[in-house]
Amino acid sequence: MNKIKELNRPRYILAIESSCDDTSAAVLKDRAILSNLVANQDIHKEYGGVVPELASRAHQKNIIPVVHQAVDKAGITLDQLDAIAFTRGPGLMGSLLVGTSFVKGLALATGKPLIDVNHMQAHVLAHFIDNNGYEHPPEFPFLCLTVSGGHTQIIVVRDYLDLEVIGQTLDDAAGEAFDKTAKLLGLPYPGGPQIDRLAKEGDPLAFSFAKARVPGYNYSFSGLKTSVLYFLRDQLKKDPDFIKNHVNDLCASVQHTIVDTLFDKLLMAAKDLNINSIAIAGGVSANGLLRSRLKELGDAHSWNTYIPKFEFCTDNAAMIGIVGYFKLLNEDYCDLSAVPDARLAYSHV
Ligand code: KG4
Ligand code: ZN
Repeated sequence: MNKIKELNRPRYILAIESSCDDTSAAVLKDRAILSNLVANQDIHKEYGGVVPELASRAHQKNIIPVVHQAVDKAGITLDQLDAIAFTRGPGLMGSLLVGTSFVKGLALATGKPLIDVNHMQAHVLAHFIDNNGYEHPPEFPFLCLTVSGGHTQIIVVRDYLDLEVIGQTLDDAAGEAFDKTAKLLGLPYPGGPQIDRLAKEGDPLAFSFAKARVPGYNYSFSGLKTSVLYFLRDQLKKDPDFIKNHVNDLCASVQHTIVDTLFDKLLMAAKDLNINSIAIAGGVSANGLLRSRLKELGDAHSWNTYIPKFEFCTDNAAMIGIVGYFKLLNEDYCDLSAVPDARLAYSHV
């Protein structure tokens, strides 16, 4: 089992996530969730993607009610908090600024220490939330395929706060590949869940799209969008109803291409590094095919596989809280001069 420092009393952490288009607040008692609320921003659906300016405004509107409800639901008072954790990056600058400014105000008013959190690290450490339903959380070292709307990374996780990115996308993220293809098919934003749903009724081998060849454990997904675009343009010339008539097969084929590409590199990394504990994380890890394929591969290769509960795949503040918890054990606080960083990278501890 992984070693976790024993504490003489429980620690309470309030966590805030505001890196993109979800305003979320959670309260953790050590590694257990007392509350985890997410306010989605439907406004972006009208525009087919996240509009940064509108996201910041929605965070401004939502942040106080969401935090208030999270604290209320947890049944604690602000006095009981041991720390306030917040997302310092990566993400949209305007969105990050709302969360960062808010927690600074709260820290000043309550005298509680602040802990800054890397959003991508939080996706990975979501596996260690008590409520994630595992009998045992992942053992170190494990590989984590972290796939979201902004990132696609293969990470070697050596300890709670020791993560190394060994591969990543050189252009679009896997989530973007889902979302951009969905847009070409006329599906609403965010496209990932729509493609997942329609693909269940489609044939994954109906159409074939080229997979990018990229060295090492890196990825590239921008070519997929272009190849779907040209393919649709040619087909629509012959049959104006092509998308309507083949939408399920199109979704299944694109999803198959993305998931296959993701696993090609993950398999390579697992073999090269001789690591047999494999996890997935991030919004795209909610994808049905990605989840079932990891299970199949796990059985075939005798891997221990870790698939987070749906509620911990997409953005949520509980995952920020769990990083906060591990940093609190290290007394790794930040001061009131902390500024958001839209391109924040991992730091080794
Ligand atoms: O981690 P996340 O909630 O936000 C970021 O940090 O980006 O990930 C959002 C991404 C979006 O691109 C969304 O389309 C994708 O995750 N996503 C999915 C599914 N659910 C969310 N992609 C494929 N299948 C899904 N079921
Ligand atoms: Zn995310």
